[in-house]
Order: sequence, then structure tokens, then C-alpha cells
Amino acid sequence: MFTSFFLKMLNREAASPKHKSERIIESLQIQEGYTIADIGAGGGYFTLEFAKKVGSIGKVYAVDTQSKYLDFIRRQAERGGVDNLIVVLATEDGMQLPEAVLDLIFARNVFHHLSEPGIYFRNLKGFLKPSGKVAIIDHKPKGGFGFVSLFRHHTPEEVILQEMENAGYFLVESFDFLSGQTFNLFGVKRFEGAG
Ligand SMILES: C[S@@+](CC[C@H](N)C(=O)[O-])C[C@H]1O[C@@H](n2cnc3c(N)ncnc32)[C@H](O)[C@@H]1O
Repeated sequence: MFTSFFLKMLNREAASPKHKSERIIESLQIQEGYTIADIGAGGGYFTLEFAKKVGSIGKVYAVDTQSKYLDFIRRQAERGGVDNLIVVLATEDGMQLPEAVLDLIFARNVFHHLSEPGIYFRNLKGFLKPSGKVAIIDHKPKGGFGFVSLFRHHTPEEVILQEMENAGYFLVESFDFLSGQTFNLFGVKRFEGAG
């Protein structure tokens, strides 16, 4: 009951015009037939939007450490007749996915949850196609007594950029249209040390 209430709240937050979900999805240039992993899928707002975008020949993995969240997403998918969505239960350190299939990894408001983000994203590289990208959105640190500040649900952008560089990625694009969050898109370095 509480889980469902919480996840509906997360989805409302993700969908609110203030957080520019349409512009985020547009920026990702998703093609029909793409395979996408939504890491830390939460209530699945983005997962379900991606499932529409990639169409019946595409596939979306909803990945989370919380099986109840995945149950919630599965139910939403069933209700909406969505059949190109697969739920994947992850551990804190990673997940099992097929090798070299992903066009896009999307992680919104998840980076700050990871204890070793560099190692985490380094381990995900094997799931990406050579042309695959990783989109990371996270809260910017800010003062005050709001939820994000009090619970430290944020990451300085320079930390994300450095961790991803160390993990073997290069920066493709930084988007600056989100006021409270950073949004960066990364590609996989072909050779360590090369851009
Ligand atoms: C703040 S919510 C964001 C949900 C969703 N991405 C969104 O933007 O609405 C963070 C999510 O990350 C999940 N999470 C935390 N640590 C994780 C990990 N190591 N691997 C996968 N998911 C994780 C949580 O269970 C939660 O669903």
C-alpha cells in the first residue's frame, strides 16, 4: 500500500512539467527498435515512456533492487498492454543482462545511491553495444532543508564526470535545461585512455 503510494508519487514527480520529462526523452534521440535499460526504474515512469518509443521491435529492461517496485511496474505494463518490457531484479552492485545488447542505459536520480559508482558503471559496459550511451541525471547539491539536501540525494557534477571518465566513458553531451539536476550523456571509450 505504502509502496504503491510512494511509487505513484515518484511517477508524478517524474512526469511533472517542472522536470521536463518530454525534453529529456527528446534529447535521448531514441529510435524504434532500441534496447534500453532503465537502471533504478522506481515507479517506472520513464521505463513505460521508453517502451512506447522503442515500439514492438524494441525492448526495455526495468532494473531495480526492490522487487516490489518491479511488481508495480509489471502491473502498470500489463494494464497498459505493454509487452516489450522486462523487469530485472538487481543487487546493490549490479545485475544480469545479456552482453552487448543495449543502445542506452538511463539512470535518473540513482547515481547518489551507488556506493562505488565508478566500479558500478565500469561493470555495465559489457551490456552496451559499442555505440551504446549512458544517460545520467542526478540532483545538484543545494542548501536548505529540503528532502534532497537532508538525505544527501545529490551528486556534484564534477564527481559524476570524473567517475565516468575513470570507468572508461567519454562525455558526449551535457544538457543544461534542468534547473535542479545535471544531465550528462556518455559513450564508451574504445580504448582505455582514449576519448
Ligand atoms: C529516487 S528513485 C528514482 C526512480 C526513477 N529513476 C525516477 O527517476 O523516477 C531511485 C531508485 O533507484 C533504485 N536503486 C537504488 N540503488 C540501486 C542499485 N544499486 N541498483 C539499481 N537500482 C537502485 C531505488 O530502489 C529506487 O527505485
